[in-house]
Order: sequence, then structure tokens, then C-alpha cells
Amino acid sequence: MPSSVRAVVALAEKEPVRVVTIEVPDPGPGEVLVGVQACGVCHTDLHYREGAINDEFPFLLGHEAAGIVEQVGPDVTSVSPGDFVILNWRAVCGQCRSCRRGRPQYCFATHNATQKMTFEGRPLTPALGIGAFAEKTLVAAGQATKVDPTARPEAAGLLGCGVMAGLGASMLTGEVGRGDSVAVFGCGGVGDAAIAGARLAGAAKVIAVDLDPRKLDAAREFGATHVVDASSTDPVEAIRALTDGNGADVVIEAVGNPRVFEQAFNARDLAGTLVQVGVPDPSMRIELPMIDFFGRGGALKPSWYGDCLPSRDFPLLIDLYLQGRLDLDRFVSETIGLDDVEEAFGRMERGEVLRSVVVIGS
Ligand SMILES: NC(=O)c1ccc[n+]([C@@H]2O[C@H](COP(=O)([O-])OP(=O)(O)OC[C@H]3O[C@@H](n4cnc5c(N)ncnc54)[C@H](O)[C@@H]3O)[C@@H](O)[C@H]2O)c1
Ligand SMILES: [Zn+2]
Ligand SMILES: [Zn+2]
Repeated sequence: MPSSVRAVVALAEKEPVRVVTIEVPDPGPGEVLVGVQACGVCHTDLHYREGAINDEFPFLLGHEAAGIVEQVGPDVTSVSPGDFVILNWRAVCGQCRSCRRGRPQYCFATHNATQKMTFEGRPLTPALGIGAFAEKTLVAAGQATKVDPTARPEAAGLLGCGVMAGLGASMLTGEVGRGDSVAVFGCGGVGDAAIAGARLAGAAKVIAVDLDPRKLDAAREFGATHVVDASSTDPVEAIRALTDGNGADVVIEAVGNPRVFEQAFNARDLAGTLVQVGVPDPSMRIELPMIDFFGRGGALKPSWYGDCLPSRDFPLLIDLYLQGRLDLDRFVSETIGLDDVEEAFGRMERGEVLRSVVVIGS
């Protein structure tokens, strides 16, 4: 029988979000019904509400979530009712040309639940194919990854988006290795995770760059060895000065800004790697002297979701968290209820929080 549950929806562009009752179908083939325990508030949710992603209103928001599998579709074997899972927005297909070549982390045909959740009979568009600011949500089985159930849901769910993107930007896309110097531009949740990932991967020096001194204080707590306030200092000069005049081996752009991209490009050592994890808007352009692109060597690498493979990376990172080697709790600035998402957007825009996390039932 379909479930009627409370959920946060954006009904029209730029209007405050509302908590309403939605209908969630029973899982069909390839689908699972998840009882959501916790879901982080991310900029992408706000971008949906602002109409900046597409105009497929009404949206069911929320996508950084953990919960318990309640029901599975007839053919689902990867998870069972009672499993503690983290949701992901790149359920790999196993059949596209990238998957077939053994590169499932780049899958070109990721999938979501087939059936629609609805509000007053209207189909909802779930944010990033998840929609987890809801007591229950319906996802594709591949979107639910089983992890150690002793992890705190508020912390575990954050691996579902920005924190994984940042960790992966360092550890997977950037391939940070022992002894590397790393610079991270932008110290929000994604940049701080990139800092934590660089430390986990053995970086010797981790330089955090931001315009906001509060963000730089937090960056130190995640493991930055040096901080640069780009509102008062030229960050390229500062990074060179901190690396014997050379630049960093790996530079991570976690803002999504062409000016920052250019700084990150120039803050690399020769043969260094630039990882672009910040998401640009469609109007942005980059212009570089082609001779510098060639002459400086190395690699410029966009990072989709940290190039993660949830089935491989979520259980591993949760184990590191439970061993005290990855401080996911530090990303949780506050826990709130479903009714508090609109106010949390304000705190996020003012830079007051890393992550507000909705706890269902609170
Ligand atoms: N690639 C992916 O798969 C993926 C996944 C999730 C998020 N993201 C993107 O990552 C980016 C960061 O996300 P977030 O949640 O950390 O955002 P955030 O807004 O919390 O953090 C951005 C930080 O950049 C700083 N900043 C702004 N301008 C700057 C400048 N000129 N120089 C230095 N620092 C500057 C801000 O002060 C802020 O601390 C966003 O673009 C987001 O869309 C990408
Ligand atoms: Zn997100
Ligand atoms: Zn695929």
C-alpha cells in the first residue's frame, strides 16, 4: 500500500519551501523504499528551489541522506529490509560503454526509481533523483549502499553528496599521495572534506584558501596546515611562498568560479594537477594562455561526485569514521526538523553553517 508521509517540497520558483503530505508508492522491480533518518541541507536543494537547475516543479528536496530499508522490490537482492544505507545520486548501470570498460565510477547512464512520488496527484521531481527531506523515499536499489549500522545517521548521510565530492576530489580525482603539497580553494563542506581527504591520503602540506576567516578556522580543524585569506592576500603568491616558490602538487577548486579556477591553475607546481569540484554556472568562461596550459604540464581534471563508486567507497569511509580517522561529525553544524529547512537555507547562505542536518522524527 502506498505510504502517505511528511516531506519538504518546492512548489514554485523562489517561493519558500513547504512541508506537505506526499504519496510514496510501494517499491516495484529494481526499487527500494527507505525510511529516512537524517538528511543534510545542501546548496543544490536551494538551487532547485531557485529554479536554477531546471523548471520541473514541484521538487521533493533533500539528497544527502541515510536511513533504513523498509521494503524492497521483487527482484532486489543488494539490500534487504532493516539494512542501514546511505543514499547516492549515481547508481551505476553496469551496461553503458563506460561501465563495460571497467570504469563504473564514470557511468554515463546512472538511474533512479522508475515510479513517481506524488503531491496532490502531481508527480514530484526528487532532488538529484533522491528526495530525502521526507519520512520515506523511493529510490533505485543501486542508490542505497549498505554500511555499518553503528554509524550516526546525521554524519553518515553526508557522504551522500558534498562530503564525498570533497573527499574524492583529493583521494580519487586528484590522486593525492604521501608527501604531496595540496591547496584547496573554498572551505565550505566540500573544500573541508577535500582537506580531510588530503590528510587521509598522506599529504605533507595542506593549504586552505578562503575569503572568510571563520571558514579558515574550520579548515584548520579539518587538517589544514596553513591558511590563506584571499580577501587580503594574493593566494597564488601565498601558495608559492609556502611551497619553496614552486606551487602545490594538487590544487582543488571547490568554489565554482572562473577567477578562482585561474588562480588554482597558476598555484600548481609544474606537472601539478588541478581538480575542479566546484560547479560553474552555464554563463562562466575560462580563458588561459594556451602556452601556459602546455608549458606547465600536468592535468586539469573535473571531478563528478569525487569520482566515487558508492558501493566501494561508502563502506570504507564509514569504517574510517568509526575508527576515528575521518571526522564526519565535525561537518554537522546543527540538527533540525523537517519544518526548519527554509530557515536553514538562510543560515547556509550567510555562511553560518557547514551543514544543517534534518533528523526525521525530531
Ligand atoms: N562536483 C560535485 O560532484 C559536487 C558535489 C557537491 C557540491 N559541489 C560544488 O562544490 C562547491 C562548494 O560547495 P560547498 O557546499 O562547500 O559550498 P559553500 O558555499 O559552503 O563553500 C564555498 C566556499 O568558497 C568560499 N569562496 C567564495 N569565493 C571565494 C574565492 N574567490 N576564493 C576563495 N574562497 C572563496 C566561500 O567563502 C565558502 O566558504 C559548489 O560549487 C557546489 O555546487 C560539487
Ligand atoms: Zn548536495
Ligand atoms: Zn553505466
